[in-house]
Amino acid sequence: MALDRKPAPNDLNAFWMPFTSNRQFKQSPRMFVAAKDMHYTTSDGRQVLDGTAGLWCCNAGHCRPKITEAIQKQAAELDYAPAFQMGHPIAFELANRIIDIAPKGMEHVFYTNSGSESVETALKIAIAYHRARGEGTRTRLIGRERGYHGVNFGGISVGGIVNNRKFFGTLLAGVDHLPHTHIPQNAFSKGQPEHGANLADDLERIVALHGAETIAAVIVEPMAGSTGVLLPPKGYLEKLRAITKKHGILLIFDEVITGFGRLGSAFAAQHFDVLPDMMTTAKGLTNGVIPMGAVITTGEVHDAFMTGPEHMIELFHGYTYSGNPIAAAAGVATLDTYKEEGLFERARELESYWGDALHALKGTRNVIDIRNMGLIGAVELEPIAGQPTKRAFSAFLKAYEKGILIRTTGDIIAMSPPLIISKAEIDRLIGTLKEVLDTLE
Ligand SMILES: Cc1ncc(COP(=O)(O)O)c(C=O)c1O
Repeated sequence: MALDRKPAPNDLNAFWMPFTSNRQFKQSPRMFVAAKDMHYTTSDGRQVLDGTAGLWCCNAGHCRPKITEAIQKQAAELDYAPAFQMGHPIAFELANRIIDIAPKGMEHVFYTNSGSESVETALKIAIAYHRARGEGTRTRLIGRERGYHGVNFGGISVGGIVNNRKFFGTLLAGVDHLPHTHIPQNAFSKGQPEHGANLADDLERIVALHGAETIAAVIVEPMAGSTGVLLPPKGYLEKLRAITKKHGILLIFDEVITGFGRLGSAFAAQHFDVLPDMMTTAKGLTNGVIPMGAVITTGEVHDAFMTGPEHMIELFHGYTYSGNPIAAAAGVATLDTYKEEGLFERARELESYWGDALHALKGTRNVIDIRNMGLIGAVELEPIAGQPTKRAFSAFLKAYEKGILIRTTGDIIAMSPPLIISKAEIDRLIGTLKEVLDTLE
């Protein structure tokens, strides 16, 4: 709609909202104006229990004092410093702190500003790594059906969510996909499902088709979040690791959701005891408060670049805001908060209570599957015939009215509360969701 006047500050028209049904939203907006710990405050003064940690990112809950203070202090002391050919201490401090909690073997951190940028960075490093080692024919990238790796061209090319891909042309060339791991035999599994490790064997087919010497990397989410919480079958990630290693292919875990405690360990790589060559992260790194991401690599990946004359740049890649001081300060304070409050352990301790509460929804109207792991869970609904996504979206709207924030993708309700959630709040979240589902068409 063309504007015939300058917009007033509270006009909703100018902001083209991301991943949003803009017309629906602007007819009946849902606005948060404040947040504290487990709750948001809406513009009409209601408290909404955060069942999604914002967008899977506020793992320590909202407006945590240590993080707020660190940002305020850093903004007043050193607001910005370039990271190209210059440094500032807190970016180094944070990198060390990340490596401290990363799996053994992970030794270096490359900063980005988001999960999408972490993915692009890791894919580029993978291709350049092989070239640096004299294997420049390794350029193919392998993703997985239903994978989500952000929204940039590399990420949507290796990603496997059709609506995120089909509107945007031909994408990157030289990409192939593994099959997803969501199989009917695993419906209503508690935790890691039993069936489907053999789906990793498809990588052998892809290698046989293209030739190992053309493949740079395989990227997967160790637990696929945004597509609706799809868990890796027992033995699946181990197989992927073995096959990639056998063929000299790098394995990238996209830990943008699973990183920083979501599964009860710092990273999913530790939870599943499988070491990839790189991990992409963002979100929980700064508790979602300031945009920041990081690619974490093994020493071997990094060291392959450290050749040639010492005055030369080794990797022609980076962002204006890589390692931004305020983001780095937020990161250090976030890691402090996780540690001081034992939040990763807390997620592990609450896992069975959370899983039991979720699985108690079995038998509720239209529920066709329930999945859980760590402090993450999904309730899959039978779609309304001919109107996919509508039932879950109605659940989302009703849930918001009733004071809980959930997230939907397709007809799947996904939940990932802050790791500070109490048992009473779990009961409220799941109890309210049941009331919502009971009243849905
Ligand atoms: C696994 C994964 N990778 C990448 C991204 C993209 O992150 P961002 O939205 O910060 O670009 C997400 C976001 O949900 C994600 O879940």
